[in-house]
Amino acid sequence: MSFSFWLAIFCVTSSTNGLPLLEKNADLRNPFVGFYVFPHGGVTLDPASMNYSSEPAFKKGSQEKSIQLHDAMQQAADDLMKSKPDRIIFSTPHGFHLTDNHVIVSTPTVYGTAGWIWSNFTAEFDIDMDLSGILNAELQSANNHVDLMTLGVGHETLPLLWAEVIPWYFIRKAAIKAGLPLPPALYIGQPTNVNIDNLRNIGRDISKVALLRKEFADRKIAVVISGDLSHYHSNDKNSPYPYSLVSKVFDEFVVNWAKMDMNAETEDASSKEILEKAGGIQNEAGHCGYTGFAMLHGMLEELVHQDWRFKSHFYTYQVPTYFGMMVSSWLPDVSSS
Ligand SMILES: *[C@@H]1O[C@H](CO)[C@@H](O)[C@H](O)[C@H]1NC(C)=O
Ligand SMILES: *[C@@H]1O[C@H](CO)[C@@H](O)[C@H](O)[C@H]1NC(C)=O
Repeated sequence: MSFSFWLAIFCVTSSTNGLPLLEKNADLRNPFVGFYVFPHGGVTLDPASMNYSSEPAFKKGSQEKSIQLHDAMQQAADDLMKSKPDRIIFSTPHGFHLTDNHVIVSTPTVYGTAGWIWSNFTAEFDIDMDLSGILNAELQSANNHVDLMTLGVGHETLPLLWAEVIPWYFIRKAAIKAGLPLPPALYIGQPTNVNIDNLRNIGRDISKVALLRKEFADRKIAVVISGDLSHYHSNDKNSPYPYSLVSKVFDEFVVNWAKMDMNAETEDASSKEILEKAGGIQNEAGHCGYTGFAMLHGMLEELVHQDWRFKSHFYTYQVPTYFGMMVSSWLPDVSSS
């Protein structure tokens, strides 16, 4: 039964902005066990024993900040595995990507290394090709700009790069520690160009598919968004990017958003922070994460409309060298249900 069919049955309520939200329905079940934001800077991988002093814009305090990020990422990955997800919806800004469209990668496995001095750090995970196909078809039928991508006859292992490997390196370690299999994933490549309405709408539609299609609704799904904040924090002559005052302002809006719970009372303030304030200057901020954050916000909005509540767990925000990195999550608020 297709999601568009269900859309016709559940008459939809209109919202002030973005796509219509599903009407409230007590029979729906929330399949999401958690939503995580992971950074993907190489300095987070092994800051305690590797010497990063030749990294661009490395300065006094960089190592300690990198260690804090490392520990936060491991903690977040441990918390993620504790919720025992059986699928992970994973979003990356610079793996496979297109200029304006989302891409869903469909191949049995992906593998890669974190590159540069971190090429001995690797990650590998399986893709759930059935769910990827369903998600793509449903998103397309709701007029999102998305397509499925594969290679050859669809049996190849496709490569991962740092923005995928780094979060999954921590998740794999957590899975091994917990004695659990690494969950298969759906891989969503974010477009290069930022269209906030499209990002928010595709997020809402991903949640609708997860609520209305049994193949998703019966699962325990964790969402992992790979993304870094502004790259314009340093005036060090070794920084690969220029310094801009926008860096601090943009990162603060994103951090404010990440620290807010998501529920009926907070959603307006939350939308204002991420869609209006951060969104209004994202163009000048040199981030590589806003696309995933805006999509994630849309996903949460759809769930909040069903009266579900999500608690923010903020792990850390640091700028060890020239770019901002944040580790945060939202988990279902069980105390309120
Ligand atoms: C790290 O490497 C730099 C050279 O790249 C060296 O000057 C420094 O002493 C090293 N630090 C440690 C703690 O080994
Ligand atoms: C990669 O090599 C570095 C030494 O250069 C080492 O500290 C680190 O533990 C290695 N990482 C893995 C995952 O093997």
